[in-house]
Amino acid sequence: MTRKKGDCGPKHQEHACAILQSRSLPDSSAIVRGMRVEIPAQLVERLAAAERVVALTGAGVSAESGVPTFREAQTGLWAQYRAEELATPEAFQRQPKLVWDWYEWRRTLVAKAAPNPGHFALSELEQLVPEFSLLTQNVDGLHQRAGSQRVIELHGSIFDTLCFDEGTQVLTWSDDGSVPPRCPRCAGWLRPGVVWFGEPLPEAALASASRAAAECQLLLSIGTSSLVHPAARLPYDAKAAGALIVEINPTETALSKHADYVLRGPAGEMLPQLLRLLRKAKAAR
Ligand code: APR
Repeated sequence: MTRKKGDCGPKHQEHACAILQSRSLPDSSAIVRGMRVEIPAQLVERLAAAERVVALTGAGVSAESGVPTFREAQTGLWAQYRAEELATPEAFQRQPKLVWDWYEWRRTLVAKAAPNPGHFALSELEQLVPEFSLLTQNVDGLHQRAGSQRVIELHGSIFDTLCFDEGTQVLTWSDDGSVPPRCPRCAGWLRPGVVWFGEPLPEAALASASRAAAECQLLLSIGTSSLVHPAARLPYDAKAAGALIVEINPTETALSKHADYVLRGPAGEMLPQLLRLLRKAKAAR
């Protein structure tokens, strides 16, 4: 059967379909949800040979842990709001209690969530690649909980708290019933330590991420819609510097047509399979 880009056969197979986007090459097989999935052998070989690899992750990596992504419709209490409308300094200034409560809800959700096989596969990948950089847009700490040692958090952490006015980190405050709580130093509002739309990324994190992207030989873009800059720019920088770009995502993104390989499936299934093939390839070298 011949396949063209995006044609994975019957609809129910689409989720677990890995597509060799650029060339037609012999494949290695993997079984995902009982279906045969093709992960290109040449991709596995390139990964096995790479000394410097970057993984750039987004909300999709945590989807299988039960943490909703940003651009999917919200459910329950928060169904009437769009994440993009809550995650801005302006929204916080307008409705600080609403925004604080939303993050409190997400904090509780994330604290109860557990890392999934995709997170664990990435922490193992760190052990297999000589220089591995994990750049994440996620603020949920699940990569660290899966054992990843070196994680560059581009958008901060939901478990950090900052003074809204001073931008300084605040570790403790008294609970006087105020929502959001008040800064113990200046009595201004406290806010979550995440990067909101329109805010700059932490300088050191962005500099390290840019350097890693520019120097890597292979970049995996996993579970991100590739829409939010400057993180979304990193794969293009890597590509311009000669890196192979691999996307893992069940749906098409802004990056898909620029990627050398697209693995069309959920990270929690594709990454463990890729890791299994990588181990095999490394053992055979
Ligand atoms: N495995 C892999 N990818 C998945 C999965 C999965 N199981 N489930 C969903 N996805 C993909 C979606 O197809 C989508 O492309 O994850 C992506 C999630 O996209 P977004 O919600 O836009 O998340 P992200 O790209 O991380 O957003 C970037 O925007 O809202 C801000 O600061 C926030 O860090 C966030 C940034």
